[in-house]
Formats: sequence, C-alpha cells, structure tokens
Amino acid sequence: MRGIRLTLLALCLALVAALCGGCAGQNAEDTEDQLLLGFSQLGSESGWRLGNTKSVSDAAAKAGVRLMLDNANQSQEKQIKAIRSFIAYQVDVIAFSPIVEDGWDSVLLEAKEAGIPVIVADRTVNVEDESLYATHIGSNFYDEGVRAGEYLLKKLSTLGPDATLRVVELAGTTDSSPMLGRAAGFRDTIEGEERITILDSVDGDFLISKGMECMRDLLREYDGDINVVYSHNDAMMYGALDAIKAYGLRPGKDIIIISVDGEQRAIDLLKEGRINCVVECTPLLGDIIMQAAADLKAGKTLDREIYSHETVFTEFDNLSLLAPRGY
Ligand code: AHR
Repeated sequence: MRGIRLTLLALCLALVAALCGGCAGQNAEDTEDQLLLGFSQLGSESGWRLGNTKSVSDAAAKAGVRLMLDNANQSQEKQIKAIRSFIAYQVDVIAFSPIVEDGWDSVLLEAKEAGIPVIVADRTVNVEDESLYATHIGSNFYDEGVRAGEYLLKKLSTLGPDATLRVVELAGTTDSSPMLGRAAGFRDTIEGEERITILDSVDGDFLISKGMECMRDLLREYDGDINVVYSHNDAMMYGALDAIKAYGLRPGKDIIIISVDGEQRAIDLLKEGRINCVVECTPLLGDIIMQAAADLKAGKTLDREIYSHETVFTEFDNLSLLAPRGY
C-alpha cells in the first residue's frame, strides 16, 4: 500500500515538474519568498479564454508570483488531476476555473485538509460546504442574462405594437455556471412579455464551430423564421453569423443578434451594424487573482464573492469613445 502511495506521489511530482516548466523566478533566493500559485485553466475554447489565460500569466509575472499553469482541455477529470498535483506539491494557493458547477467536493476537501486555500475563478462551483473555497472572483452570470433580456425588451419597444420575436438560444457548455446563469437571467427578464417566444435552446459548447453547426440546423428546422439569436458567447456568435449569411439572411438586420463577452472583434461587428448587442463579461481577472492569492497567503479573509464591474454595449449606444478591449 505504501509503495502504491509513493508511486502516486512520484507521478504527481513528475506532472508538477512538467507543469512548472514555465515557472517564473527560478533562482534559489527568489523562490524562497515568492508565492507559489497553482492555476488550473479549463481549456482554450474561445478568444475570451485565451485572454483570460494571458491575463493570469501576465499578472503573475508582474506580481512576482511563481505560476504553475495547467490547461485541462475541457476535461473536468484533468482539472481534478491538476489540482491534486498542486496539493502534492504543496503550493501556497490554488486557483481554478471550473468547467462545470458540480463534482468538486472531494478534491476541494483534499485541498482544505492540506491547508491550501482555493480561489474559484471565472466560473462558479456548487458544493455542499461553502468553506471548501476561500472566494469566487469573476462575473455575475445571472446579471449578464438580465442585461441581454433588458436589451431585447428595449428593442421590442422600438418595433411597434404588433411585433413578435422568435428567439433561438445558442447555449454554452451544459451545466457550466455561465450557461445556467445567462439562461436564467434572460428568461426571468423577458417573462410575461407574450410577444417574445424562445423557440429553441441548443448546446454550442462555447465554440465557433458548434455555433455555426447549431445555427445552420436551426435555420433549416424553422425555415429561416427566426428573429433573434441569443448566443451565450462571442465565439458561438461568430459561427452563427457565417451560417446566417450562408442562408441568405443579414445578421443584425434580418435577425437581431445578442452575444456575451465583448471581445474586440464583437465590438467591431456591433459598430458595423452586423450584430445588435454585446453583454460584457471580462476575462481580465489576473491582477485581482494575484492580489487575492497574496492576501490568502498572509492569512486574510476575503469576501465570498468578488464580482467584476461589467456593462452592456448596444446598437443604441455611442461606441466611438470605447477604449480597446484588450481581448
Ligand atoms: O466562463 C466564461 C465563458 O467561458 C465565456 O463567456 C466564454 O467565452 C468562455 O468560453
């Protein structure tokens, strides 16, 4: 039994050595005092995600934090393995962006028993015992869905009393917190408005390719009789625009397009009139994560929720002075 444990530990340490290939500050004096942060990123599914990974790496380098970064390529199992490796290596703090909400209780209990504080970044978790993590840093996904719904109600009010809107939803990864929050906030906001109907909701997994495929199939299924696309992120929206154009319709004119994230490319499309609304969700969380990690190492208690300040950009706004997005 002891032999198996030692082999497992050796395997974990080998994985960590591989993860730490890119650690900053390698010399002995540096590493003594430097904070060691293990960060499990969930994947590379969107421009947003790439911007988030860059934000964390840049902020770590700026703050002099040694970063062990693992990319789980959309696998919860790989995320759990990475977190176990960080525990075996006895990092000071663990941060991770959970691909889905459920299934984290055991590994977070292991971190707690090892005395390592955990930051939940970007997406949220659903755990029995809230003390399993120190704080969540990221967006309020429910509020993002509300902003999307508020825009649609405003748009409807400009279309005259007889207008009706048939909506299709390109939803993010099933059971992920942004998918759940954005769907719920949107529905709660348009509830009671009988002129808006949600025809369908399909899982586009936050990917450009699936956004295109889902939209192509939806256009066929509803014979093009769709008035609104509500996409849970910019990546799926880019794919949907290709499908709409291929079908012979004009996005932003024949079909109202609502997206979430606010990547530079989406803002450019909004300015060109090819989409109608972008709800902001910022991936630039790196500095806040580094500050929280330092505070936790110093033994401080953090707020349970540290939300980003976010807004919404629409066709009704003057966007000429909007600063470059940075992602
Ligand atoms: O968790 C945040 C979401 O994940 C972003 O909206 C999306 O682009 C990303 O893939």
